[in-house]
Amino acid sequence: MKMVDIIHKKRDGKELTREEIYFFVHEYTKGTIPDYQVSALLMAIYFQGMTADETAALTMAMVQSGDVIDLSNIHGHKVDKHSTGGVGDKISLIVAPLVASVGIPVAKMSGRGLGHTGGTIDKLESIAGFQVEMTKEEFIENVNKYKIAIASQTGNLAPADKKLYALRDVTATVDSIPLIASSIMSKKIASGADSIVLDVKTGSGAFMKTLEDSEALAKEMVRIGKKLGKNIVAVISDMNQPLGFEVGNANEVKEAIRVLRGEEIEDLKTLSLELATQMVLLAQSYPDYGTAKKELEKNLKNGKAYETFKQFIQAQHGNTKVIDHIELLPDAKYHIEVKAEEDGYIASIDAEAVGLAAMYLGAGRVTKEDQIDHAVGITLKKKVGYKVIAGETIAILHSNHPNPTESMVKLKEAYHYSNTKPQPRPLIYQIIQ
Ligand code: URA
Repeated sequence: MKMVDIIHKKRDGKELTREEIYFFVHEYTKGTIPDYQVSALLMAIYFQGMTADETAALTMAMVQSGDVIDLSNIHGHKVDKHSTGGVGDKISLIVAPLVASVGIPVAKMSGRGLGHTGGTIDKLESIAGFQVEMTKEEFIENVNKYKIAIASQTGNLAPADKKLYALRDVTATVDSIPLIASSIMSKKIASGADSIVLDVKTGSGAFMKTLEDSEALAKEMVRIGKKLGKNIVAVISDMNQPLGFEVGNANEVKEAIRVLRGEEIEDLKTLSLELATQMVLLAQSYPDYGTAKKELEKNLKNGKAYETFKQFIQAQHGNTKVIDHIELLPDAKYHIEVKAEEDGYIASIDAEAVGLAAMYLGAGRVTKEDQIDHAVGITLKKKVGYKVIAGETIAILHSNHPNPTESMVKLKEAYHYSNTKPQPRPLIYQIIQ
């Protein structure tokens, strides 16, 4: 088989065979096909697309390029949840203990943040002592004992995806639906859960900016999951403004704990309950949607989800004192107020700009090698639909630098004003079964 023939075939819009897809994925991972040929193929895929069979074959070829985690020693039906990435998205920190609190095992592999979006592993590392690296045995033991473990993705999980993603990043071929869908799904399939709930974000802070593209991505991922024997549901949710009020690692842990303690932070609570209900339904532990949701709501109110979170932090060697006293979690040296530029309603908040403002403070990474500062972040005091007067505080920068000018400028740019109250947007657009 010759790589040039595969490129030629895809360039001309023809369907690749499973063998051709496995050939280029495995030979590229081994280093026997050069970057320039794979770049040409990726660009051909970008323009010609892929059929459902091709996308499923690409997913499986990437899964088989590395380890597949065997979770069969975990009792019960294992569910996983994945977000396509957002700003202020601390939902996994709420949903994982909430689902575990009703007895359903959550065995979750999570990633770190890159660019303007955060990652669950970085957030958890705001808690002193918390271990994100675990042996396979510890991981399984913790899930069996406490119904929950969250570990950092191992280096050998879908290594082909890692290599291809790095190449896509520098060849303008990231935003292709079959390439994104196969990239995300390869890691989810290799992580070994029985069922997967996807939170596909749409809007200014998301990968997919339009509802149409988000829907196409969600459908593609559900199709791949089903073809590969997984129970899978995708929820399309709004990312036209950050979720909740806190952005940044320790900031987000604090806010997640407040929700787990039963505080009413509307968007976080609503989306968490929806995703948790979908997870519980896939695990087939409750007869219907209403019963499942009621039980989860009960565990948010009665403190069971919070206790499960605390137990999970303790099991992974984190300091639980900071869970009961969130003021002990890291905070930055300076709290700098950002003021409204004009009178009116907040019409929109560009979530990507907020994510970038937090990244400039040090909450995120520009490259994978960057060190992050868990203490820095942003507290939004005003969100979309709030009425403000010029000079009123709209946000607070938690900075370890006295003059974070770049973040200040970016955050001001994120806020848009209008004279009339904006129509509220839905938080959840669609559920794709
Ligand atoms: N996240 C991934 O893991 N892969 C993509 O291609 C895009 C987002």
